[in-house]
Amino acid sequence: MDHFLYKDGVLHAEDVSLAEIAAAVGTPVYVYSTATLLRHFHLFDDALAGMDHLVCYAMKANSNQAVLRTLAQAGAGMDVVSGGEYRRAKAAGVSGDKIVFSGVGKTREEIELALTGGIRQFNVESEPEMLLLDQVARELGKVAPITIRVNPDVDAKTHAKIATGKSENKFGIPIARAREVYAMAAKLPGLEIIGIDVHIGSQLTDLAPFEQAYGKVAELTEVLRADGHNIRRLDLGGGLGIPYERSNTAPPLPTDYGAMVQRTLGHLDCEVEIEPGRLIAGNAGVLVSEVIYLKSGEGRDFLILDAAMNDLIRPAMYDAWHDIVPLNEPAPGAEPRPVDIVGPVCESGDTFAKQRMMPTLGSGDLVAFRSAGAYGAVMSSEYNSRPLIPEVLVNGDQFAVIRPRPSFDEMINRDTIPEWL
Ligand code: LLP
Repeated sequence: MDHFLYKDGVLHAEDVSLAEIAAAVGTPVYVYSTATLLRHFHLFDDALAGMDHLVCYAMKANSNQAVLRTLAQAGAGMDVVSGGEYRRAKAAGVSGDKIVFSGVGKTREEIELALTGGIRQFNVESEPEMLLLDQVARELGKVAPITIRVNPDVDAKTHAKIATGKSENKFGIPIARAREVYAMAAKLPGLEIIGIDVHIGSQLTDLAPFEQAYGKVAELTEVLRADGHNIRRLDLGGGLGIPYERSNTAPPLPTDYGAMVQRTLGHLDCEVEIEPGRLIAGNAGVLVSEVIYLKSGEGRDFLILDAAMNDLIRPAMYDAWHDIVPLNEPAPGAEPRPVDIVGPVCESGDTFAKQRMMPTLGSGDLVAFRSAGAYGAVMSSEYNSRPLIPEVLVNGDQFAVIRPRPSFDEMINRDTIPEWL
């Protein structure tokens, strides 16, 4: 459930008309709902209520400072994957003991930053990383709390580009080698083993692969404890999918997920962490765009928008479906017709939808891409010299620009011309 509904015939974010935001801020623009962000965070938090737990929002999904602050104030921790994300989390007011550091390529600088600024744990992904972490921690006179990310070789049954738990993926260490690697970690004085980490992929629409992976983690917990390791925390990653296509069957709810976690891991008496990104931010955001032209092509019509693949890359990159709806509610009985919905970028890949059934729209009409709050703005670029688009946060009947649209000069003047030119 989200808070983007038609009221008086116009799509609203909570109590604010999206048409009003478009008029004030211009298009394209990302708009987020505070109520939806908080609702989704609390769904997870409540689903794990029976266990000692922390929901660490995977901020790669949407790392705007206002979004982070909203979630941090509700009690969320953060899952970060770079020095930049660590700094953003800190700047939004998250304390180090609520930040977990994931990722396969942590650099010495990033490790130093997190050890100095405070960290809940590093999710270690390889032996070379483990050795560097030990060395840097000892140099700084610290002990780094770690989990080791294991790759359970489970098929997450999601898009190949966002599956991470198969043996062919670059993530984690093979679960078959876990005992050996934990034994090695236990000998390094700069490290303290806290637990186990796993993350098998994103946009999972079935609980079975999670349950399979968590079952393997439960077994491993017992084995590692028998080996003498004090396994007391399990980081279960993120990945629960959202209903992008409203006509499809909905993925499992956080409550179902929480029940499965309790069933699979509850007996181990471990603290549990989860790292949801998409499920917290995805349906909490829309991308509002204006139709530039309706163009008649050979055998098909094209709705050309002012948003493009540089603003929302997901359809081009993962063949992702986003519901695209008119801001003005179609009249009952209005006949939809098929159109290709495209952006102005000079690539055929700049196509959001092919032969999508839409009400009749033309120049100046506004549309909203639903489910664009996660992996939208954060994955945007300035391709075709299109400045990054603004972001707006709604809370009840108020809204605020939380990232302004840069001017063309700001974009151009970031480049510098060498003196010989
Ligand atoms: N934890 C780790 C270690 C991850 O790598 C990810 C996502 C998450 C948590 C959060 O997963 P979520 O709950 O959001 O599914 N750009 C792609 C998604 C990439 C996900 C990468 N890792 C997309 O737009 O679909």
